[in-house]
Amino acid sequence: MALRLIRAATPWRAPMTLLQVKGLVKHFPVTGGLFGRTSGQVRAVDGVDFEVGEGETLALVGESGCGKSTVGRLALRLIEPTAGSVRFEGEDLLALDAAAMRARRRRLQVIFQDPYASLNPRMTVGAMLGEPLKLHHLVGGESQRRARVAELLELVGLRPDHARRYPHEFSGGQRQRIAIARALAVEPRLIVADEPVSALDVSIQAQVINLMRALQKRFGLAYIFISHDLAVVKHIADRIAVMYLGRIVETASTDALFAEPRHPYTRALLSAVPLPDPTLVRDRALLEGDIPSAMSPPSGCRFHTRCPHARESCRRDDPPLVSDAQGHATACPWWPEFPPAPAVARASAEDQDRIRLDRLQAAFVSKEEA
Ligand SMILES: Nc1ncnc2c1ncn2[C@@H]1O[C@H](COP(=O)(O)OP(=O)(O)O)[C@@H](O)[C@H]1O
Ligand code: SF4
Ligand SMILES: [Mg+2]
Repeated sequence: MALRLIRAATPWRAPMTLLQVKGLVKHFPVTGGLFGRTSGQVRAVDGVDFEVGEGETLALVGESGCGKSTVGRLALRLIEPTAGSVRFEGEDLLALDAAAMRARRRRLQVIFQDPYASLNPRMTVGAMLGEPLKLHHLVGGESQRRARVAELLELVGLRPDHARRYPHEFSGGQRQRIAIARALAVEPRLIVADEPVSALDVSIQAQVINLMRALQKRFGLAYIFISHDLAVVKHIADRIAVMYLGRIVETASTDALFAEPRHPYTRALLSAVPLPDPTLVRDRALLEGDIPSAMSPPSGCRFHTRCPHARESCRRDDPPLVSDAQGHATACPWWPEFPPAPAVARASAEDQDRIRLDRLQAAFVSKEEA
């Protein structure tokens, strides 16, 4: 009660912190040889800090293998970290025992890239959506359960009679809608969406992203939206954290990151975002070489083996993530010396991109509202 009074009297501020992650580390032991001895460690996540506010979307972006999914699983405590802390709604998740964690899990849901793999093929959609309702005692009886399932299906743009069908009777986009409905069933505060649209056609991607945005607005949901593709997160993320080899190398509001990418790795990722008009050209800052092994990341700045701006000290000094007053943080001390990022900020290309997506999204919004 006291809390409610304080909240009512407080003027508007930035969203309240929902999830706070500090010093997160996850090393996976690598076993091999005849006796299955540990022969090394995969440093999947190697010192990551971030916060997600209520109703906010934080995107985690980076090439495959940089640790995005591991961060997502750690944030939900689906796996235990090697070090670091995870606080959710002010509570230390890692200190909870199994029963308390099970209860808390309701508030923390997950959606995966491949909805088919995460949906039980032998259960009807109705049974699948009804299960968590029963488990968490969210409905009184059978008729209430049926009504809630129908409501959930309608929320994600499906029909109540779809409850009688099995997952294989749906398209990829519809299956992802079912997975979203199942996550929503338990009234979560935060959903970790791990590459939720990566397996879908581009037009279907826009529909699912529109749906996620509409649901976010309606229910005040927060998302950690994981994607290897910066173009995808542009239209849903409030903030973006770019990861490289288990670390965050740059984080900023989505607008700031697209307008002024600072880290050479972010610039390279951005320059690979395709332009919608094939007659437009953009200077590509191509990434040279493969991602180094997460078992033995390079010394100093982990990006130095692929960085076009690397200098001698980069092999030695590990650059901290340093934020400016606006919260744009960069793990490279040399960025102010770099020339402006090529072409990514060129108005014509940007505008065309925006117009195309706005048009696409407007079409889907009106379809969904119909
Ligand atoms: N259970 C595991 N055991 C060993 N290594 C793992 C495990 N899960 C992930 N990894 C390794 O950790 C690194 C990060 O993986 P992941 O978080 O899946 O990256 P991303 O989601 O960015 O593609 C990769 O090198 C991957 O091979
Ligand atoms: S610290 Fe050096 S190697 Fe790392 S991104 Fe900056 S310039 Fe490149
Ligand atoms: Mg992944």
